[in-house]
Amino acid sequence: MRRLTYLGHSAFFIEKDWDGILIDPFISGNPLADFDYKKKRITQIIVTHAHLDHLGDAIDISKDTGAVIIAVFELANYCISKGAKAIGVNIGGKLNFNWGSVKFLPAVHSSANPELPYGGPAASVLLDIDGTIIYHAGDTALMPDFSLIGEQYNPYYAILPIGGYYTMDIEDAAVAAKMIYAMEVIPMHYNTFPNIKADVQKFNDLIEAQGQKCLPLKVNEYVEL
Ligand code: NI
Ligand code: MN
Repeated sequence: MRRLTYLGHSAFFIEKDWDGILIDPFISGNPLADFDYKKKRITQIIVTHAHLDHLGDAIDISKDTGAVIIAVFELANYCISKGAKAIGVNIGGKLNFNWGSVKFLPAVHSSANPELPYGGPAASVLLDIDGTIIYHAGDTALMPDFSLIGEQYNPYYAILPIGGYYTMDIEDAAVAAKMIYAMEVIPMHYNTFPNIKADVQKFNDLIEAQGQKCLPLKVNEYVEL
C-alpha cells in the first residue's frame, strides 16, 4: 500500500506498507480534522516548523506511539525536552528510511511558539516514497528556490499553501507550481481560519490553465501513490 491522505490544514499522512509518516499533524486543535492516530501505525512525524498549527499533536503522538519526530535541530531539541523522540536535522539534510527519504529544504517563513522563542529556520520537505517524489512546501512565501527544487528533484506532487496572509496566496502558489513544474498540485493551508480563506476553484483553474493537474483533496481524501 502506498497512499497519501489529506488530514486538513497542512497535515498529511503517508502510508507505505507497514510505515506511517505524519506531516505537520495539527489534528486536535483543528475542528475540521478527523484522524485517530491510535488506529494507525505511526513511525515518523515530520514537522516543518514550530508554529502550533504545524507542530500540532506531534509531541503527544510521539510519546504515545514511540514515533520519531523529524524536525530542524532547535525544534527537535524542544520536542525531546517535552519527552518526545526526535531527530534534529537542518536545511539541506536528508534522512533515509525503509520507505525512502526525507530532505529538509528552505522556506521563507518563521519558526517559534509561545514556549520556544527560536525554533531554527522554517523548512519545506522533499519526500521520496520509494521513487515517488513529493514536495511539501510547509508555510512559505513565493521564493526563487522553487526553480532549483524543480530542476534538481523533479517532484511529481507539489503540496503548496494557498491561503495567503501567512503564506503564498493562490496567485503566488500558481507561480510556485509552474516553477517547481510538478505534474500534480495539491493545495493546503486554506479555509482553516477566516484570514486564510481561499478560492480553491480559482486556484484549480490557474493550475489547469498552465497545463498542470490540480488535486484539491477534501479532509481524509487520499491518492494512491
Ligand atoms: Ni507557520
Ligand atoms: Mn501555518
